[in-house]
Amino acid sequence: MTMSTLSDPRVIGHRGASGAAPENTLPAIALAADMGVAMVEFDVKLTRCGVPVLMHDDLVDRTTDGHGPAAGFDLAAFQALDAGRWFDDRFSGTRVPTLGETIELLVARDLDANVEIKPCPGRTAETARLVVEMLLRLWPADKRPPLLSSFEMEALATARDLAPDLPRALLFETLPPPAEMDRLTADLAPVAVHLWERPIDADVVAAVHGRGLALRAWTVNDPIRAVHLVRLGVDAVFSDFPDRILGALA
Ligand code: G3P
Ligand code: MG
Repeated sequence: MTMSTLSDPRVIGHRGASGAAPENTLPAIALAADMGVAMVEFDVKLTRCGVPVLMHDDLVDRTTDGHGPAAGFDLAAFQALDAGRWFDDRFSGTRVPTLGETIELLVARDLDANVEIKPCPGRTAETARLVVEMLLRLWPADKRPPLLSSFEMEALATARDLAPDLPRALLFETLPPPAEMDRLTADLAPVAVHLWERPIDADVVAAVHGRGLALRAWTVNDPIRAVHLVRLGVDAVFSDFPDRILGALA
């Protein structure tokens, strides 16, 4: 890796470097740092008792050796899960990290973060509140603030009310109609739109940039597509294989 590929802010490790290590785990985040990214994205939801932990799905089944809804596991039960062996035996014994443990790693590795608030059904405001409260408590004052995002506009509204100074990004599969974009931009005061990469074209880039917002695309694992999106004006891409994208954009 050459120095010119290090810390390119246009590349964000998706769920860490989740193509090469189990998603939303400390090894995946550490690996993204090893690959030279400046920022990682990860998904946060709550244990049954309200502790923010990193997990994407509402069920623990796909990414751990457990079964059932994540919202049914208390912290001890979460920490008894193996979150690595499903990916590769090399990662056996990897745990589901808490947000607190993750912040320690982000600080140690000098990584920026996009914290995606990913509530389990019926827990949207509670999840946003507990995630934001933990960030306000544990995030070092001298570190670049975490970027909050969510598909749930209610989560972003809760974050805006509790911590107006933490930057927010609207998360969508497709861009809402212009009137809805105007309403959400005025109401939630985001700094960016994080959009599924597939529908992005020049018109989408113009619609987002025209509102003064950055546009970041998820999830881009094809280096050719990444180069195309950046040429269109996309500001950054999320990738499971950030090393490949860093190499292509260098
Ligand atoms: O935050 C970008 C991206 O992670 C959103 O989709 O389902 O991978 O969390 P998902
Ligand atoms: Mg995500």
